[in-house]
Amino acid sequence: MDEDEEIECTKIQDRYGRVYDLKCTDWKTGWRLILSDEGARVGEAKCTVGPGGLFIGDLHIFEPAGSQKQNWIARLGEILGWREKPQSYRRLGLGSEMLQYIVSRARQKGIKGIEGNFSAVDTGPNPKLPEWYRKRGFTIKSDSGGFYMDL
Ligand SMILES: CC(C)(COP(=O)(O)OP(=O)(O)OC[C@H]1O[C@@H](n2cnc3c(N)ncnc32)[C@H](O)[C@@H]1OP(=O)(O)O)[C@@H](O)C(=O)NCCC(=O)NCCS
Repeated sequence: MDEDEEIECTKIQDRYGRVYDLKCTDWKTGWRLILSDEGARVGEAKCTVGPGGLFIGDLHIFEPAGSQKQNWIARLGEILGWREKPQSYRRLGLGSEMLQYIVSRARQKGIKGIEGNFSAVDTGPNPKLPEWYRKRGFTIKSDSGGFYMDL
């Protein structure tokens, strides 16, 4: 492990109260966040810290579910009363929780602003993405090529 690496682990909940592990690793150039559901990776984000602030390079909640259990295992799990995993991890509030975590951590560390860009890969399937950031406190750049928040 790099001696400058710092790892912060926290728990977040989806909108049904299910609990997930969020691990944030600090590198010299930024942060790497990994969200997991009982050990299975279900989301991630990469942020770069620069002189202008924090740049969110990628924020991603996986769909379909990161851990694909075979049906018979899922069925057995239900019979034994194991926790049933969501079919998809999107629209459960997890992206919002991760974004909120990034904003709070940036504030705690005295970072002055956060920004990011929209790529066609993301806005193509989800044209409402700028609106998603706007509702979560970000300003959308006039050419809609990106978003920012002054802290
Ligand atoms: C954008 C993304 C991170 C959102 O994460 P999420 O956990 O699904 O989002 P949340 O559950 O917190 O919020 C969902 C909200 O967005 C709305 N929404 C609109 N279109 C949506 C879509 N295609 N997918 C998910 N949510 C969508 C939902 O209706 C919901 O609104 P509500 O909170 O008012 O009910 C996730 O959809 C994703 O990984 N997308 C692909 C990668 C991407 O585009 N990343 C952003 C790069 S800038």
